[in-house]
Amino acid sequence: MSKAEARAVWNDIVTRSEAQTAAVARQLASALEPGTTVLLLGELGAGKTAFVRGLAEGLGLDSDQVSSPTFTLIQEYRGRTTLHHADLYRITSDEAEDLGLQELAGPHSIVAIEWAEKLLRPPGKAVMVKIEDLGGDTRRITIQPGSSA
Ligand SMILES: Nc1ncnc2c1ncn2[C@@H]1O[C@H](COP(=O)(O)OP(=O)(O)OP(=O)(O)O)[C@@H](O)[C@H]1O
Ligand SMILES: [Mg+2]
Repeated sequence: MSKAEARAVWNDIVTRSEAQTAAVARQLASALEPGTTVLLLGELGAGKTAFVRGLAEGLGLDSDQVSSPTFTLIQEYRGRTTLHHADLYRITSDEAEDLGLQELAGPHSIVAIEWAEKLLRPPGKAVMVKIEDLGGDTRRITIQPGSSA
């Protein structure tokens, strides 16, 4: 994210379909600097994985691969910029610490973390994406630089 964009909080974006949420994520992807970690916050079924699918699309990656895996904690979608996708739902905060997520962000990669609430020590260069279910297919998305802690 550029400094100007980092100052601006993308507030109160309301989407009414999964496709619209993915479109917001595509837009964010185009503004992300490599080395950034996207912290995804929101309840079960809020649309975090849908958002990651949009990030992958925005980075020119194969978004068909994006899912919430049951057994894999971190997935990797390779491309000019590689997207590392973690889902912390099934593990504890201590186990999350041991994943080494901090080391995944680099000059050619972006990291996206679902259930980032569990991170005790959030990464340095981060963008926080909060998705709230407003009922039906309506979601409110708030995007701001920084971390949840
Ligand atoms: N506006 C919307 N944005 C995103 N998803 C939506 C929207 N409206 C409906 N949905 C539906 O909500 C569900 C979101 O599922 P998704 O797997 O992305 O959630 P999640 O936050 O990753 O959940 P989990 O915590 O289980 O990983 C999908 O079934 C999607 O079709
Ligand atoms: Mg998910």
